[in-house]
Amino acid sequence: LTVAVLISGTGSNLRALLDAARHPDFPARIVVVGADRDAEGLAHAEEFGIPTFTAPFRDFADREAWGEELGRQLEVHNPDLIVLSGLMRLLPASLVARYSPRIVNTHPAYLPEFPGAHGVRDALAAGVPQTGASVIVVDDGIDSGPILAQERIPVLQDDTEHTLHERIKPVERRLLIDVVRRIATGELALTH
Ligand code: GRF
Repeated sequence: LTVAVLISGTGSNLRALLDAARHPDFPARIVVVGADRDAEGLAHAEEFGIPTFTAPFRDFADREAWGEELGRQLEVHNPDLIVLSGLMRLLPASLVARYSPRIVNTHPAYLPEFPGAHGVRDALAAGVPQTGASVIVVDDGIDSGPILAQERIPVLQDDTEHTLHERIKPVERRLLIDVVRRIATGELALTH
């Protein structure tokens, strides 16, 4: 299975995927890593000699034009699966339609709880005793697609957004790697 990963930030989830894919028995290969900005996480791909591209959102007239550039960059590698891992932008519906349901996303909350760009902060603000991590199929909503994997994570009294997010990320990584593996082996079928 060939995989494209799209990021916006530090790429810690990307790093975990890269490390997992090093093992010859891991059934997926990352063939390109893209970012919507000059993300520091691109350095992980460069370290592994994997092609990267940036399509800075602000360089394009609108979301559609940005999506067309993403599409052009992705079709060079023709990936079987697209993983959004810390991409902090919504893909345009046209791009989702082109690849759906072969786009998955990691989210640092127990969807459908706390969707959107601030899932960790929102859980903390809500004062809930537990939150979670989720891997979903991307549809043209916001974190609203079919759930592929998720796990509960406790919120501790003295948690800050940072400490809670750092507790969530390792769970996200484990879930993501397992989902990619199960998609690659055909054990997990992607549906719209
Ligand atoms: C992850 O928790 C991801 O789910 C969320 O932002 C974080 C990105 O972390 N959208 P990183 O860039 O993978 O370190």
